[in-house]
Amino acid sequence: MLITRTIKDLKNKISKYKADGKQIGFIPTMGALHKGHLSLIECSKSNDDITVASIFVNPTQFNNKEDLKKYPREEEKDIELLKQVGCDIVFIPTVEEMYPEEDKRQFNFGGIENVMEGKFRDGHFNGVAQIVSKLFQYVEPDNAYFGIKDFQQVAIIRYLNKHYLADLNINIVACDILREEDGLAMSSRNKLLSPNYRNAAPLIQKTLKKYKKDYKNYSVKELMNKITEEINENELLNVEYVDIVDNTTLKTVDKIIEGQTTACIAVFAGKVRLIDNIAF
Ligand code: PAF
Repeated sequence: MLITRTIKDLKNKISKYKADGKQIGFIPTMGALHKGHLSLIECSKSNDDITVASIFVNPTQFNNKEDLKKYPREEEKDIELLKQVGCDIVFIPTVEEMYPEEDKRQFNFGGIENVMEGKFRDGHFNGVAQIVSKLFQYVEPDNAYFGIKDFQQVAIIRYLNKHYLADLNINIVACDILREEDGLAMSSRNKLLSPNYRNAAPLIQKTLKKYKKDYKNYSVKELMNKITEEINENELLNVEYVDIVDNTTLKTVDKIIEGQTTACIAVFAGKVRLIDNIAF
């Protein structure tokens, strides 16, 4: 596996593959890789000729400095894991390489940036768009892979791709959530959970599943309240929001339509913020 740290080197390597007509798959990450990331790499390996990953903890998407500071960083281990799954190129730039000067670009996502995560993480999606647009321009992949655990992020990236980067012709592939045996959605942040919080966290998915099964017995508002109350009954967990939204507009629905509606949630397990979702 090739490790590149500069944009120049990365573009150089990729242009050689492109000249040979190779199809490129790309998985942007912030490192601290888990099986969820590795499944995205595997997905690219089975679809594309060359698989490129990036590891970069992007400062502009953190609205909370503490969160940025404590975000897990495990470069050596990540490189080993990427080698094991057969990734071809990993790009690991510094902050100076990606942001030689302040990125002042402001993106507009037609409103989908202002709901759910957007309400609680000011500027988060603008930061995601800043880094993803740079990475897309440097890698110019045919396919880019994202986990649907970040449901709203996938919608934002699809919008970015369609409205700002259409000339790059990138196909966005959204992949299923990978879960631990007890149902907790895999996330780099799970590494920050102390054992008591780790034991409490599977209640998030368990509660979403329970009310998905029973959804016909409640109004949307009742469902959101029930999910919140039931999770908050555990004193280690604190729901930040539950929203049941239309898959395209991300607006709260009046009525659940199977195949078109998703329940999204953010929960604090102590200081660690976890997100999850379930499709109806
Ligand atoms: O999902 C993530 O890990 C990040 O938001 C991403 C897409 C790598 C951008 O920094």
